[in-house]
Amino acid sequence: MPATNSIATLDRLERPLRDLRISVTDRCNFRCRYCMPRELFGEQHAFLRRDELLSFEEITRVARIAADLGVRKVRLTGGEPLLRNGLPTLVGMLAGIPGIDVALTTNGSTLAQHAQALADAGLRRVTVSLDSLDEDVFRQMNDADFPAAKVLDGIAAAAAAGLAPIKINTVVRRGINDHTVVDLARHFRATGHVVRFIEFMDVGTTNGWRLDDVLSGWDIVRMISSELPLEPAEPNYHGEVARRWRYADGSGEIGIITSVTEPFCGDCTRARLSADGALYTCLFATQGHDIRALVRSGAGDDVIAAALAGIWSRRTDRYSELRSSETRGMPRIEMSYIGG
Ligand code: GTP
Ligand code: 5AD
Ligand code: SF4
Ligand code: SF4
Repeated sequence: MPATNSIATLDRLERPLRDLRISVTDRCNFRCRYCMPRELFGEQHAFLRRDELLSFEEITRVARIAADLGVRKVRLTGGEPLLRNGLPTLVGMLAGIPGIDVALTTNGSTLAQHAQALADAGLRRVTVSLDSLDEDVFRQMNDADFPAAKVLDGIAAAAAAGLAPIKINTVVRRGINDHTVVDLARHFRATGHVVRFIEFMDVGTTNGWRLDDVLSGWDIVRMISSELPLEPAEPNYHGEVARRWRYADGSGEIGIITSVTEPFCGDCTRARLSADGALYTCLFATQGHDIRALVRSGAGDDVIAAALAGIWSRRTDRYSELRSSETRGMPRIEMSYIGG
């Protein structure tokens, strides 16, 4: 069935399957304290082996079947997706699926080298994570002695390759980088790029999350607006994760992602595929569904499609709205495994 004719696959809360976020590696060259703290992701950590990873052909097959079920947007994530060799080849394969928009979320560290090849392969949009422009704060956050200036080079290269406007993801942690938020906003104002400030989430089990570490989206807007006046803007599309705010002087916009203080599960249309082929129906899921085994068992497209549709149609997840004690202490997946 051509992707454009597909009928929406709905979950139990009537949410369609629209986005597929695909992690292509669980490795990263950063050790952000809130995501892959060095003590837990050091030499001893067992990363996935090569043969455990889905091949590009396997990923493309799952994405093509998901497109028939209604997926319109594929976002490649990691760990750090650009650590996977030959990523532009995968982008080209995915871009060839009718009706699919391919995007990438990266830490930007090697984007300057790869931007042109990614754009040439058919990448449409890129999101770069950058938590601060203050070199000391940024190095403290990435814990890999990596300079913010090099991430800015990556953003410039992506813009030159035609991937602008670029989204910048900034996780805000109280007492760590909140004092650098206004500078970051000011830097990207009038560049056409859009910074989205993200409330620090209680994802995974290793980041030592406490509510006290969260600076609310409202506080972030107030802080920026006191120096660079902001006014609310309409969403670009139904179910958009970020709330838009534009500068009153017309010099651009920012976004606020309030998954802690104002969850958006009601519109959540995202499924996540880990690098080893497990499908998760929520960022906070405690368990995935093994799609790799099915793919490697010789199952036909119709069998895989029925499995994906079945998993989605049984979905009831709305973790952020419940933030329930039920899943506290259970072995939740880590952000670096599922790619945010
Ligand atoms: P575009 O609108 O296509 O740019 O995508 P997006 O807004 O989903 O952007 P992106 O994928 O970069 O998501 C930004 C951040 O929002 C992620 O890194 C997460 O921190 C958070 N986020 C995205 N999706 C979810 C979700 O389903 N649940 C929760 N709780 N947080 C999410
Ligand atoms: N809370 C919010 N955002 C997070 N990210 C990683 N861990 C967290 C967290 N605990 C973000 C990264 C990146 C994206 C993939 O997810 O900064 O922008
Ligand atoms: Fe790597 Fe992104 Fe996790 Fe930082 S947040 S350690 S850059 S995957
Ligand atoms: Fe979607 Fe789960 Fe995030 Fe809610 S918590 S928005 S259901 S991924």
